[in-house]
Amino acid sequence: MFRLLKQEGRAKRGEFTTVHGVIQTPVFMNVGTAAAIKGAVSTEDLEQIHTQVELSNTYHLHVRPGDKIIKQLGGLHKFMSWNKPILTDSGGFQVFSLAGLRKIKEEGVYFHSHIDGRKIFMGPEESIQIQSNLASTIAMAFDECAPSLADRAYVQASVERTSRWLKRCKMEMDRLNGLEDTINPNQLLFGINQGAIYADIRIEHAKQIAQLGLDGYAIGGLAVGESHEEMYHIIEETLPFLPKDKPVYLMGVGTPANILEAVERGIDFFDCVYPSRNGRHGHLYTNHGKLNLFNAKYELDERPIEEGCNCPACRRYSRAYIRHLLKAKEMLGMRLCVLHNLYFYNTLMEEIRSALDAGEFAAYKRRKLALLSMGQE
Ligand code: GUN
Ligand code: ZN
Repeated sequence: MFRLLKQEGRAKRGEFTTVHGVIQTPVFMNVGTAAAIKGAVSTEDLEQIHTQVELSNTYHLHVRPGDKIIKQLGGLHKFMSWNKPILTDSGGFQVFSLAGLRKIKEEGVYFHSHIDGRKIFMGPEESIQIQSNLASTIAMAFDECAPSLADRAYVQASVERTSRWLKRCKMEMDRLNGLEDTINPNQLLFGINQGAIYADIRIEHAKQIAQLGLDGYAIGGLAVGESHEEMYHIIEETLPFLPKDKPVYLMGVGTPANILEAVERGIDFFDCVYPSRNGRHGHLYTNHGKLNLFNAKYELDERPIEEGCNCPACRRYSRAYIRHLLKAKEMLGMRLCVLHNLYFYNTLMEEIRSALDAGEFAAYKRRKLALLSMGQE
């Protein structure tokens, strides 16, 4: 259930109640594709860095270790020892990212496994069955994330198929949630809006899926090649046609600035690989701009990554030490950088929520954007 606590313009402060606990929104979900955040980040770490929702991937967990194994082990929560909300993405993004390894048909998508080349079929029913076996808190509908540069005729046909798939996902989810041996019979389903950068296709699709009474809605197919301005424009055009009383999730977005702009336009949920991926490469987010720890100027720098940061890396270690670890390819270096970056994103969301609570989001956003754009490298 989604409860709106406060509104400032289109920006929303809310609470989404699930069987695995209450999610305070706006929220940034931390991406652990194969049931782990890359960079040797443990479930215990997630608690320390204030993670609210962990995100895992249907396609990857189906390929390895297999969703049936995870079901036998009691579901994803028990498997990874995480008792807070988990969102599973449907495999629809892999239709985009594994473009060379798949064929799209009406019934679903034929993949060649990115691990061993074995053939895998995933349609809407299969994706929902896998997510039901994983027993995540929130399952995503199976969709096609089309490239944002795809031509109009292709996008129109793709969105119509994604709509038909969504109805099949809902039927399958209702069926599975009614079965005796389903681990999480309260599993929620979010539908995904598509339409690339064609606002009229997006709006038509949003109107259609809004009628299905789903638990939440996502805007997919963005941050896949279009400009930031085009992305913001699509969010502004589409959002008014999604239900007002359900959360909206902007998939795969983005930079801290993208998140601030999207919150202002009414988005509630986010996820992105940037903080973990950049952390693994020594690229760190701070309130004085981005910092690259490989830069020689940090060789003798005894300060933490960011003064005043309360993350496990900054509470104890210096830039000089973490820089050394990264250069020596010690895993601890990557780990500390990933922890700092995820903590930075989770803290950004806490600040956004406090600003909304206080009715001061607009002023906060202006100040934060100025800090983020400072040059520090
Ligand atoms: N992750 C980022 N974009 C998308 C999308 O369009 N669909 C799905 N399923 N996942 C995504
Ligand atoms: Zn830190």
